[in-house]
Amino acid sequence: MLRTEINELLTQTGPGTPMGDLFRRYWQPVLLAEELSANDGPPVRVKVLSERLIAFRDSEGRYGLMDEFCAHRGVSLWFGRNEEGGLRCPYHGWKYDYTGQAIEVPSEPETSNFCANVKLKSYPLVRRGDVLWAYLGDPARQPPLPEWEFVTVPEGQAYTSKRLQECNWLQALEGGIDSSHVSFLHSGSLDSDPLFKGSRGNAYNKGDLKPFFEVVDYEGGLLIGARRNAEEGHYYWRVTPWVLPNFTMVPPRGDHPVHGHFWVPIDDENCWAWSFDYHPTRRLTETEVAAMRAGMGVHSANDENYRPLANRDNDYLMDREAQRRGETYSGIKGIALQDSSLQESMGPIVDRTKERLVATDAGIIKARQKLRKAALALAEGVEPVGNRPQDQKVRSVAIVLPADQSFVEGIGEAMIAKPGVPQTTV
Ligand code: FES
Ligand SMILES: [Fe+2]
Repeated sequence: MLRTEINELLTQTGPGTPMGDLFRRYWQPVLLAEELSANDGPPVRVKVLSERLIAFRDSEGRYGLMDEFCAHRGVSLWFGRNEEGGLRCPYHGWKYDYTGQAIEVPSEPETSNFCANVKLKSYPLVRRGDVLWAYLGDPARQPPLPEWEFVTVPEGQAYTSKRLQECNWLQALEGGIDSSHVSFLHSGSLDSDPLFKGSRGNAYNKGDLKPFFEVVDYEGGLLIGARRNAEEGHYYWRVTPWVLPNFTMVPPRGDHPVHGHFWVPIDDENCWAWSFDYHPTRRLTETEVAAMRAGMGVHSANDENYRPLANRDNDYLMDREAQRRGETYSGIKGIALQDSSLQESMGPIVDRTKERLVATDAGIIKARQKLRKAALALAEGVEPVGNRPQDQKVRSVAIVLPADQSFVEGIGEAMIAKPGVPQTTV
């Protein structure tokens, strides 16, 4: 359980908050590349860390991300005309380039210096993999570009999606580092979802409902080991990396692609659940990509605004008959919606003063401590970790080890992402 003020510290990420300042030290995924697919295409609204922004791609393919509202009288530039090297406000024709600099103010004489003094707040927006990344922090502290393996593998080896999750980012993240719920909530999906089934690990997952957690510090965050019984004298370990502040990976199953998430605050009551799949050594098959597009595995079927079709307005299409037949444990179809339905059910910001944590929540407890420490330390001038390339070259691991071996010793360098090297998986 947490005191109210600590819960607030961890969950509030708007400008000027300690956790908001921490988030502003990292490149965050804000758009899929497909959302700005053409030069001079429609601008797209971006709300991230409680800031309302507009993104566009200019005539030369440069990405701009800036204040959503026109500097003249505050019109939303979502209504803007994206033309000839800039975004023009349709009200009185003020035009901005991709850096937010005003380049035309038609009412003012061309000889005046008016334009030069008008600039919207703007942030860098860059493409890496299928994702557009933004950095909202101090330009002097801008870290190197993201080096996560899912955006650096060769073309065709990764697939990324996003879905709206209508709750605070932290309760979504906490689901990502809580391996113990898999044996319950996702038990019906392990052997039916095409992106999960067929792995030997599934049987261990379902056979041992009381995993033992061991959590160790690692470069950019934590390695969270969940130990379950395997064959006589052996344990099955699922090792989940968490990298500050909001990156998690799911341990692999068989030769399936590996998946992971970013949990990106939109505001304090909503977040984007970014979900990626990649295979370190091969292209994804057509069947795999079709399953991902259809919303299987860690993905979901969404409307054109990336809100899941099964959502809280329709009770997530709860099917109690399927639950009774044993096809789903909670009655909700699909791993992503199984997670978000329950996390949204806690309310927009769960009251952590009322929770009763147990041993299987060890990863969650440690991650909260680290987040709090990092936010408070940053306020004292100590730069955080997790934004350096070496922190990001990380993988999840699934492995069977002799009972007397620690997981840290047993996995060796398996949690380090190395180009062309297969993942360690069961
Ligand atoms: S409000 Fe945008 S040009 Fe007047
Ligand atoms: Fe889950």
